[in-house]
Amino acid sequence: MVRPLTDPTSTDLIPTGTPLLEFDRVGLQYQVDGKPRRIIEEISLSIQPSEFVSFVGPSGCGKTSILRMISGLSPAPIGEIRLRGDRIHKPLKNVGIAFQNPVLLPWRNTLNNVLLPLEVVQPYKREFRQKLPQFTQMAQDLLETVGLQDFQKQLPWQLSGGMRQRASLCRALIHQPEILLLDEPFGALDAFTREEMWVMLQNLWMRAKCVGLLITHDLREAVFLSDTVYVMSPRPSSIIHTLQINLPRPRTLDMYLTDEFNHLVADIRRHIHRS
Ligand SMILES: Nc1ncnc2c1ncn2[C@@H]1O[C@H](COP(=O)(O)OP(=O)(O)OP(=O)(O)O)[C@@H](O)[C@H]1O
Ligand SMILES: [Mg+2]
Repeated sequence: MVRPLTDPTSTDLIPTGTPLLEFDRVGLQYQVDGKPRRIIEEISLSIQPSEFVSFVGPSGCGKTSILRMISGLSPAPIGEIRLRGDRIHKPLKNVGIAFQNPVLLPWRNTLNNVLLPLEVVQPYKREFRQKLPQFTQMAQDLLETVGLQDFQKQLPWQLSGGMRQRASLCRALIHQPEILLLDEPFGALDAFTREEMWVMLQNLWMRAKCVGLLITHDLREAVFLSDTVYVMSPRPSSIIHTLQINLPRPRTLDMYLTDEFNHLVADIRRHIHRS
């Protein structure tokens, strides 16, 4: 399995070790009109530290629900998800989350939106005033990585959609989470901007060395960013295909014109259509 690398030019394989996250026969059902409706039949899988994984599958198969279960906002009701061996049963502190809609606070400038998690999440909250210069530097470094160094003082309405999403990714990473949850983060962007965002997200994630967990409907996006792609069946869902993506990192936009890349995308598409 390929892990993000400190040296982005290296393509060494790092052996798999103890998983960071484990899904152990995870299932999900809701009561709809008084009757149980099964959403997820059963999922078991492991995610290694610093692995980037994507989940793709039809609408309603439970992808967003998976992120909610990992975050601990809605712990798995059937089976369990474990973080370093401990069942996730309450909201985790050490996760960063980015959704399709960036939801930046409109009265805060870019820099202060990025700093927000440090103001509200312990242990950073406790030392926020005292360490503000250091935290500001961390935020500025992240903003520089995504090309927003000259937009720190702008308010959200003064940014383009792509810029807002870049700021939101920086905000999701500022407290150095060990898990980054991304729910169709680029779904609202045009195709050209979206492709630029893939490169930026890859850079951010390689720097952060956290687990990346992406939900997307864009199969090329899944292949471009992931070490592993999980294909889900329609509801009641399970994992019907697991694909390892061994393309070297850092990946470039030229790669997705190659036969190798297109074969991987076609393989995922075939499994989705078969389900
Ligand atoms: N709180 C809830 N109560 C009842 N049903 C729910 C609840 N939350 C989600 N569902 C149902 O669970 C199913 C899975 O929802 P989820 O949002 O996880 O799907 P998804 O795979 O993310 O879909 P999409 O690709 O459209 O975003 C849907 O049928 C949805 O209606
Ligand atoms: Mg969803």
